[in-house]
Amino acid sequence: MNSPQEFDHHKESYRSDIDKAIAFSGQSHDFFTRVKAEYIVELLREFANERGASSPDARPLDVLDIGCGHGHIHPYLVQSNVRMNLSAVDVAATVVEEARLANPTVNYQSYEGERLPYDDASFDAAFTIAVMHHVPPAQWPDFLQEMRRVVRPGGLIAIFEHNPINPLTQWIVRTCPIDENAVLLWSGQLSRLVAQGGFVDVTSRYILFTPLDGPRYRAFDKAIGWLPLGAQYYVSARAPKSS
Ligand SMILES: C[S@@+](CC[C@H](N)C(=O)[O-])C[C@H]1O[C@@H](n2cnc3c(N)ncnc32)[C@H](O)[C@@H]1O
Repeated sequence: MNSPQEFDHHKESYRSDIDKAIAFSGQSHDFFTRVKAEYIVELLREFANERGASSPDARPLDVLDIGCGHGHIHPYLVQSNVRMNLSAVDVAATVVEEARLANPTVNYQSYEGERLPYDDASFDAAFTIAVMHHVPPAQWPDFLQEMRRVVRPGGLIAIFEHNPINPLTQWIVRTCPIDENAVLLWSGQLSRLVAQGGFVDVTSRYILFTPLDGPRYRAFDKAIGWLPLGAQYYVSARAPKSS
């Protein structure tokens, strides 16, 4: 079973371990990070537009990244055209320190992995990438309840996970040292947990069908998001408007 702070021990080798495990794809960790950033920005933009927050005088979205690691995705988010105050939290305190140095405009915190260090209803949106498979399964419902607690009524959540159906994903998880204790979640299983956690409008989409880069391949990715063969997937949902 994972120790909460095990990523402190992987802090020097995190990116190179992943790059080694995915080398066969011809792409680096950064490619996969950038693609996920594009999906998150798209979700946030749709959410902001729905709330009429796209006008220049509307307030920026308060967004939380749970299990942010080194914050590799943060530059893509803060430089996007969605205005946001980005906060991020992780159980690995030394990793959070590195993220803070790299991204001075992001508000970082570390915590013990149980109660998130934020007041109820602090954020418009919260996302988490490749974290839940490191959380012991018995704690998955509590992890989701904490997401729900810190997101405002009607707020957006998005959970990105590895797709256990994809054989290359399975191979990467088996060979990557940071995934030694991972317990992968199926998309349907995660969607059910999210719905049981009281979220509404639960939807899921498979992503990263090809390691090829560029707009044509991204359009292909988006067109077949229903096909359960992408390397990863995400589940998005809304906190109910009233409890
Ligand atoms: C595979 S890394 C992903 C990091 C980052 N989200 C990314 O995509 O680059 C998993 C991260 O989850 C963190 N983590 C594990 N359990 C956690 C928990 N209960 N709450 C928050 N973070 C957790 C680890 O410390 C690690 O930084």
